[in-house]
Amino acid sequence: MLILGLNMFHADASAAIIQDGEVLFAIAEERLNRIKHYAGFPTLAIQACLDAAGAKISDIDHVAIGQDTDANLSEKVRYAMANPAKLLNFIRLRKRKQEMKDVRALIADGLDCDAQSLRFQEHRLEHHIAHIASAYYCSPWEKAAGFSYDGSGDFVSTMMARCEGTEIQVLDRVFLPHSLGSFYTMICEFIGYSRYGDEGKVMGLAPYGRDTYCDQIRELLMTSNSGFELDLKYFKPLGSNEGMQIQPDGTVALARHFSSQMTEMFGAPREADAEITQRDMDLAYAMQYCFEEVFFHLLSELHEKVPVENLAMAGGCALNSVANGKLFTRTPFRRTWIQPAAGDEGLAIGAALHTYRSVLKKPRDYVMQNSYLGPEFADSRVESSLRSAGLKYQKLEREPLLDTVVERIAVGDVVGWFQGRMEWGPRALGNRSIVAHPGRPDMKDVLNARIKRREWFRPFAPSIIEERQSEYFEHDHPSPFMLHVYKIRPDKREQLCAVNHVDDTGRLQSVSRQENPLYYDLIRAFERKTGIPVLLNTSFNENEPIVCKPEEAIDCFQRTRMDAIAIGPFLALKSQN
Ligand SMILES: [Fe+2]
Repeated sequence: MLILGLNMFHADASAAIIQDGEVLFAIAEERLNRIKHYAGFPTLAIQACLDAAGAKISDIDHVAIGQDTDANLSEKVRYAMANPAKLLNFIRLRKRKQEMKDVRALIADGLDCDAQSLRFQEHRLEHHIAHIASAYYCSPWEKAAGFSYDGSGDFVSTMMARCEGTEIQVLDRVFLPHSLGSFYTMICEFIGYSRYGDEGKVMGLAPYGRDTYCDQIRELLMTSNSGFELDLKYFKPLGSNEGMQIQPDGTVALARHFSSQMTEMFGAPREADAEITQRDMDLAYAMQYCFEEVFFHLLSELHEKVPVENLAMAGGCALNSVANGKLFTRTPFRRTWIQPAAGDEGLAIGAALHTYRSVLKKPRDYVMQNSYLGPEFADSRVESSLRSAGLKYQKLEREPLLDTVVERIAVGDVVGWFQGRMEWGPRALGNRSIVAHPGRPDMKDVLNARIKRREWFRPFAPSIIEERQSEYFEHDHPSPFMLHVYKIRPDKREQLCAVNHVDDTGRLQSVSRQENPLYYDLIRAFERKTGIPVLLNTSFNENEPIVCKPEEAIDCFQRTRMDAIAIGPFLALKSQN
């Protein structure tokens, strides 16, 4: 049985294909069409899913979509009726969503096939149930508390659920306009980060701030019996704009979220190119601090309703790895399973697995073991790409490749590491990564000057072999998808100075041999050479979606000052090219 899952006409459009309950392949459209956070119809991703499964679209039994515009309709109507000024906008948005509803026609058009040949049954699933399903049905658990939170989806920003067997029972929803995602986005915009997806950057700025504004910010975001509430006078009214605007080319733009009340309280907003002041850093601090307070409050409420130790979590806010790293000490939950594609691309997997488990009531025999669900390329294809680019390269066996790469990293070189199947989700986890020495004081500046050009306050992340995690970090719960930030132990901070953030933390990836033997062995080889079981790992890209194909990796290597690229069994050095 083949099920195709989709996230479409929403940020991070994506497709996933599952066969008899097992996820075969999943990819966000941005990796294929190279438009970051692409929010149109995922035609290329669907085709890639079919190719990976060796199937035709007419072979698909079910199509599951992680969006249901009819969900929570009464709440939407109630909001619109109470705000007549926004009624027109509401009607316009609803009309546009209706136009995008005919998935059969969209697929037939996108794949250039006859709609009559499509025999699939169609399933629509509410946004946040799809998020929770994307975590719970990938976890190894038969019972868990389910939690999803983001900006918004199907008029909801937060969902709590009891997950047991084949059921996801929704216990609570927080409806718009109250939204932790909108709160975070609003303050990011106010301090000059107004592009879709900038929230992850500003999280890195927070530890530079001080507790100056926490009391004021707490007035904007209050915990309540129903979870939490925003003080709406600080926000542009929902419906006065579209919040997130999808442009005709499929890119995503954010409308202004903050109102003049913010300016009255904190002064003028920061312009994007202006210097970052202490005020901005202190606001970032208060934003993260108050976000965490509400998050832990919500999780504690959830635990009262579902008193188990397992937390299955997704939604864009679940990418807040700083909050995730603290939840073990601030809430009763002891284990997390967070979907690596916690943002909206993950809806494709969630909708597909929900159809298989909850709708069709099929037994569980799938656990997501790793995030390597994207495409891979044969050595012959890689070699012809290297030749076409006119690069000098050598082909190496496994051990000599590992030894040569760690020799380069040990002397301070920056190496592109392109191996196996591409990662699913926003993190590069050792297959589309740039790797470097984690213990050289200059390495962050070198990477920024030569390749990444990131904001000065953003840390780089460590990959550590899992057996050594508790020696280096103050928490031993695994972080296989780089979704937890932990304190680095005092005696290891110098060894990890290039990945040690200003608050002595690191957003680690724990690497097990079972999940990624080649990357694990690369780190082990580096440890043999230097005594450090850690590599600096950043995504293989330069101001673009993470590279997917060999040609994109080679192009990135050629246009940046990367010292070497290890791509499959081939190694090319900048000094020879
Ligand atoms: Fe979402």
